[in-house]
Amino acid sequence: MRAVLVPVCLLLVSPISTSSWTSSSELVLNPNQVCKKMRQSRSKIHDICKNKPDLLKHIADGVRLAQSECQYQFRYRRWNCTNAKKSIKKVMLRDTRETGFVNAIIAAGITFQVTRACKQGAQIGCSCDKLRKGRKNKKLKPKISEDEKWDYCTENIEYGIKKSKDFLDTRYKKRSDMKTLVKLHNYVAGRLAIKNDMKKECKCHGLSGSCTLKSCINKMPNFRKIGHTLKQRFDGAAKVIPGNDGKSFMPEGATIKYPSRSDLVYSEESSNFCNPNSTLGSFGTQGRKCNETSPGEDGCAILCCGRGSRSVKEVVQKSCRCEFHFCCDVKCDTCNEQNTYHVCQ
Ligand SMILES: *[C@@H]1O[C@H](CO)[C@@H](O)[C@H](O)[C@H]1NC(C)=O
Ligand SMILES: *[C@@H]1O[C@H](CO)[C@@H](O)[C@H](O)[C@H]1NC(C)=O
Ligand SMILES: *[C@@H]1O[C@H](CO)[C@@H](O)[C@H](O)[C@H]1NC(C)=O
Repeated sequence: MRAVLVPVCLLLVSPISTSSWTSSSELVLNPNQVCKKMRQSRSKIHDICKNKPDLLKHIADGVRLAQSECQYQFRYRRWNCTNAKKSIKKVMLRDTRETGFVNAIIAAGITFQVTRACKQGAQIGCSCDKLRKGRKNKKLKPKISEDEKWDYCTENIEYGIKKSKDFLDTRYKKRSDMKTLVKLHNYVAGRLAIKNDMKKECKCHGLSGSCTLKSCINKMPNFRKIGHTLKQRFDGAAKVIPGNDGKSFMPEGATIKYPSRSDLVYSEESSNFCNPNSTLGSFGTQGRKCNETSPGEDGCAILCCGRGSRSVKEVVQKSCRCEFHFCCDVKCDTCNEQNTYHVCQ
């Protein structure tokens, strides 16, 4: 059978679904759901919900971005950031490392999308960050040299941070229970994962590549990098207990150093997510694909929780014997290939 070769990249891009990760529960944070609950108040969220539909749309995009990145970062873990309501809702009701990661990446996702929308000229009440003159320049981390100047419009991270705070943090202002303190801390950590990693990026101007003048912007890292940073913070997250004043927390062990603003914190131990448990939002790992030889978290040893794995054979169709036809087509045969992988018992 002859078939036209499908570009591989198309197969790798999976659509971001508007799934239940963002629906059904305020805790899980569907921006529209949040808005419904906020109708009565005169808060900043209420203002966004009522008067700023475009901003709200970018906020919702930010939550979706956070969701798909969470799933990428946790794809090999026992808890894989599944968007199934029965899981994520339960996870968000607790205060574990996983809860902390999700809160942090949501705060980062909103900051990122709002900042990017500003740079692209969206009419959401922001202006470009003017970095050329004045005090703001001093706050900037990257230094600029003599043959460089700031672009007239650079990424306005402060605006993204502000809107992320307005939407997420303001409603908790008057509360100081442990879960709220932890949540607010992790929101900050999520946003700092972007802010602390802004980089100067310059373009050359001037006669044919002479590069006598460069214009620069202060640029956010891409979201994959932010997800990676937060995943590392998740791995090194600090457990905290209530402080003596009732308004703060402190590390559980006296010898542990105080978590910095960019560290993730949590107050409850996670379950091991090995077996199904609806109270905990765990589906267990039975049937999950694992890697027989890997010593890491994707390895059958860890993923299957010691229950062992079995191998599964599958036949996959692949393009093969491709030929180039003049002009400009690539035609391929379809071949069957046998594939073996392991799944947890
Ligand atoms: C589910 O987890 C909870 C909390 O750890 C525990 O009390 C309960 O016994 C578990 N249920 C099952 C069916 O294992
Ligand atoms: C995530 O885990 C669930 C439950 O263990 C499983 O059904 C699902 O296929 C997993 N998703 C991915 C992308 O591996
Ligand atoms: C399985 O793990 C090994 C060792 O980490 C790695 O070299 C290999 O590429 C992995 N295989 C798959 C299919 O991911």
